[in-house]
Amino acid sequence: MRINILAIESSCDETAAAIISNGKVRNNIIASQVVHSKYGGVVPELASRAHEQNIVEVVRQALEQAGVEMKELDAIAFTRGPGLLGSLLVGVSFAKGLAMSLGIPLIEVNHMQAHIMAHFIPEEKPELPFLCLTVSGGHTQLVLMEQMLQFQCIGQTRDDAAGEAFDKGAKMLGLPYPGGPEIDRLAASGDSAAFRFPYTNLPGYDFSFSGIKTALLYLLKEQQQKDSEFIQKNLSDVAASYQHQIISMLLGKLKKASVDFNVQQIGLAGGVAANRGLRQALKIAAIENNWKIFVPDFQYCTDNAAMIAITAHHKFLKNEFVPLDIAPSVVSGNNLEL
Ligand code: KG4
Ligand code: ZN
Repeated sequence: MRINILAIESSCDETAAAIISNGKVRNNIIASQVVHSKYGGVVPELASRAHEQNIVEVVRQALEQAGVEMKELDAIAFTRGPGLLGSLLVGVSFAKGLAMSLGIPLIEVNHMQAHIMAHFIPEEKPELPFLCLTVSGGHTQLVLMEQMLQFQCIGQTRDDAAGEAFDKGAKMLGLPYPGGPEIDRLAASGDSAAFRFPYTNLPGYDFSFSGIKTALLYLLKEQQQKDSEFIQKNLSDVAASYQHQIISMLLGKLKKASVDFNVQQIGLAGGVAANRGLRQALKIAAIENNWKIFVPDFQYCTDNAAMIAITAHHKFLKNEFVPLDIAPSVVSGNNLEL
């Protein structure tokens, strides 16, 4: 028998749907919301309205592309949290309505668990125990996975997420939102040793990026007073130095955790995984530390429904279903439990 699951993701600003059949992801449909770019960040009310507008079409496309009819679905999976309440509500309500009308079970998925489970989409999967660094606009955490679907958050950010540090830094430099990719592009031609930014090393495995952000603010203020063209003249060097230090802090904790927990299967997840400097640094660290590294395709790193689908598949195998009166769970951003 073939098990078909429709998965829906709507926790932030991507409306996404995917079909998974017998554990194989068939497609990954995403409608990104451009409406937020002029505000320099996601506007929750606009996000939920856009989800409302997009969700029917996104689901229709996922079914059509996979050649799966509604009546062939065995379960509906959805992101229950963490995320923006209004955004989550759209996906949760849609999933509930569809599951009820089709008389099939519902599967709830934690968005943060799903980012990690994205590593289990490709043919080549990590072995357990697996250590994953999830870095995105909303989250930064180090998660240890010793058993399938068992996640232990061993470290997380105490303030900004890594992506936020990129985006806020970019904003100070006058770059468009989201600034992470812009810093990445500029850093490629800059000197990462040109400016020195603070390295925050908290006890344990937690991260903090507020210090480096403030340091950038003060550097720019001070230097712009002396030379009003400081930013234009030093853009690439500042971007490279800023990026370099964020990466050092991320990898510092990853290395420490890998040694302390004796794990060599290492994954990178979330939108910041696209950063070329981070990927390069991870490759070097892999050679030095004898790691096997896993970085999913970019479409599976940023918010998507394929990662919800693969998580749902494993939950289906364990009969982990939820009742139809389920509501979104607005647990805080880094929470691995709902
Ligand atoms: O996972 P994601 O798409 O959305 C969530 O935040 O959940 O991550 C988006 C974040 C943004 O902060 C964006 O600036 C960052 O990922 N990002 C990058 C790069 N591409 C995306 N940061 C640094 N370098 C990149 N190449
Ligand atoms: Zn995410």
